Amino acid sequence: MTAQTARPRLAVLVSGSGSNLQAILDAVAAGDLGVEVCCVISDNPRAFGLERARNASIPAQAVPFKSFSVRAEFDRALAQVLAAVDPDYIALAGYMRIIDSDTVMRYQGRLLNIHPSLLPAYPGLHTYARALAAGERWHGTTVHFVIPELDAGPGILQYRVPVAATDTEQTLRTKVQEGEYQIYPRALQWLAEGRVTLVGGQALIEGAPLPTPIIMEAGT
Ligand code: GRF
Repeated sequence: MTAQTARPRLAVLVSGSGSNLQAILDAVAAGDLGVEVCCVISDNPRAFGLERARNASIPAQAVPFKSFSVRAEFDRALAQVLAAVDPDYIALAGYMRIIDSDTVMRYQGRLLNIHPSLLPAYPGLHTYARALAAGERWHGTTVHFVIPELDAGPGILQYRVPVAATDTEQTLRTKVQEGEYQIYPRALQWLAEGRVTLVGGQALIEGAPLPTPIIMEAGT
């Protein structure tokens, strides 16, 4: 019998539905993503993402934001849970809390987020409504390294879709999320392979600077 090579351990942080978590779990099951999802953590004990983890027999744990009256205590509790799990990589997948800068720095280069806009456009909330109100012709989503500044870390992969005149927030979200389920597992695979790295604040792909994220469109 050959010994199995240990796969890198990925922790996934969610706040809600966890459909990106599901895409990650499906990619692992399909053999397209060579990591072990070692735990799912949520600030929201009722997040459906925790249920998805349990259904996949993955340890799931809540660090309930609302049970802490002092923000720093919540940050400390999350840091302790992460330290106990000791993941190689962390994926924020619809995680709706800002990670404190100490924790971000501790996992620098090993911590990714997916944000539903073509960053640097539309950091923050309500990206679909804002893009529609501005009459954008394109919208999309970005996988990026996390740095202490919100939604500002170097991008790795983007998926973009044309905005149709008939699009609503919901139709646009549906189109963009289809892309999220493709690009997040792919970017995580690149990270786990060491193909993308963060060096001196810059994203590198196979050792070469990646000044702007790689762009994918539907059907590519
Ligand atoms: C995703 O669309 C992601 O871009 C954003 O939050 C959403 C989470 O959705 N950060 P889900 O929980 O993965 O279904």
